[in-house]
Amino acid sequence: LETSSVENSHMGGNMTLIEKAKSIAAEFEYTPEQARAGVKEFLRLMDVGLSNDGEAMTMIPTYVTKVPNGTEEGVYLAVDLGGTNFRVCSITLKGDTTFSIQQSKVAIPKALMVSDSKSLFSFLAKNIAEFVKEHHSDHFAEDATHHLHLGFTFSFPVDQKAVNKGYLIRWTKGFDIPDAIGKDVCALLQAEIDILGLPVVVAALVNDTVGTLMARSYTSPGKTGTLLGAIFGTGTNGAYVEKLSRITKMTKPGANVGEYDKSTGEMVVNTEWGSFDNDMKVLPDTPYDRALDKNSVNPGIQMFEKRVSGMFLGEILRNAVLALKESHNIFSTATIKTDSALYTPWSLDTSVLSYIEADETPNYLVTRETIQKEMGVYGTTVEEAEAIKTIVHAIGKRSARLSAVTIAAIVLATGKLGNAPKPNTQSAESSDTKDLSFIEQGINAIVTAVLGKPDAAPLVDAPAPTSESPVKADKAISEDDIIDIG
Ligand code: GLC
Repeated sequence: LETSSVENSHMGGNMTLIEKAKSIAAEFEYTPEQARAGVKEFLRLMDVGLSNDGEAMTMIPTYVTKVPNGTEEGVYLAVDLGGTNFRVCSITLKGDTTFSIQQSKVAIPKALMVSDSKSLFSFLAKNIAEFVKEHHSDHFAEDATHHLHLGFTFSFPVDQKAVNKGYLIRWTKGFDIPDAIGKDVCALLQAEIDILGLPVVVAALVNDTVGTLMARSYTSPGKTGTLLGAIFGTGTNGAYVEKLSRITKMTKPGANVGEYDKSTGEMVVNTEWGSFDNDMKVLPDTPYDRALDKNSVNPGIQMFEKRVSGMFLGEILRNAVLALKESHNIFSTATIKTDSALYTPWSLDTSVLSYIEADETPNYLVTRETIQKEMGVYGTTVEEAEAIKTIVHAIGKRSARLSAVTIAAIVLATGKLGNAPKPNTQSAESSDTKDLSFIEQGINAIVTAVLGKPDAAPLVDAPAPTSESPVKADKAISEDDIIDIG
């Protein structure tokens, strides 16, 4: 941790452990005034990104000019390179807003995330080969008439030039494969597919947020349409439907753009809000955030994401607990395993925060079990568990409120506020994180605050029948979670 935090922690000499935990929690305060300033800045940076190339909050035109309406039919392959897993799916769209899906999932080996593009993409192609051989062997027959069309969900920022062409801008979420930067990721995948002789053509490239927006549009076409596809997983990002007339960087003299259908007057924009306010004008900051950023593979980048999403909350908590150890020798009567996650950067999973946040057992039983299992600390006291829970809550609440800022801004920017009859969000398990339900509560809270009081409508409705296990918002929203955005 930075010297400043160590200095601060020594200043708390007279505080009890709980008082110190509360003072750390206070560092994570994110007030309604800050949220308002955040929404204002977000709206400004949306405009900046829509008018200029190369901005941090990139506002990427996706070349998707129309979203589904539920009548689409056919069998498609889809692959998803998220932050943690690689999925291969075969989807049958039935044309009546329903679909069936077969899928396989494999964790991306950590070594491949920091390797070279050949190693990563040949790994992807091999997994596609296994899946296609198992589920679509008919396409290998001599007389097979057509190739399977594959949609490639690639959850990183690309400079898209056509529906099936996109050049990698930068890696995020801990990936670092320098030779892939500036390359067309569809071509990289197709080359490896061709080496294996698979009957598969990479037909479309989408960000996961765009895929989410399209999937929801297919299953719930309606008068008001789908406002936003948002991911709160390993990383965080959102995509929405924008008016072509507002994406002025595409029509500037000399703009390097591909062909697209102008007839709908709209295009889906991938915001890349993970890099909202990299300049740190309005984002909250603590010594724990600064330590995380300094030890990341991309300091100064994705500053919003680093305060919000699954890959980072565990590391923020780890830094804060280390500060508590420094100042108050927390766990002094406990046994700490030498290979404790406390001493290993990036090793605390965000699910740890979810378990602790949800703990309502007497004497913080679940919290203490979680600390033992996930941090390798045996024999914590009730007071220590309370201290950790206080900090966990503060980190989660800040993350939730920040998440809500993006949604409020998009609601306001699109002017769709008047169209939305009631707050209604749907969540399937996000592509790669176990449980961020506390973020979802915050989002629902802000949507509620923006759109009005919840009426009889459930804040989280049931997941689509064929999707994977849902993330449940299993706690009621408290007053404390509600921000008046004004
Ligand atoms: C990161 C990526 C972005 C993706 C998000 C969620 O922010 O840059 O493209 O959508 O993670 O997976």
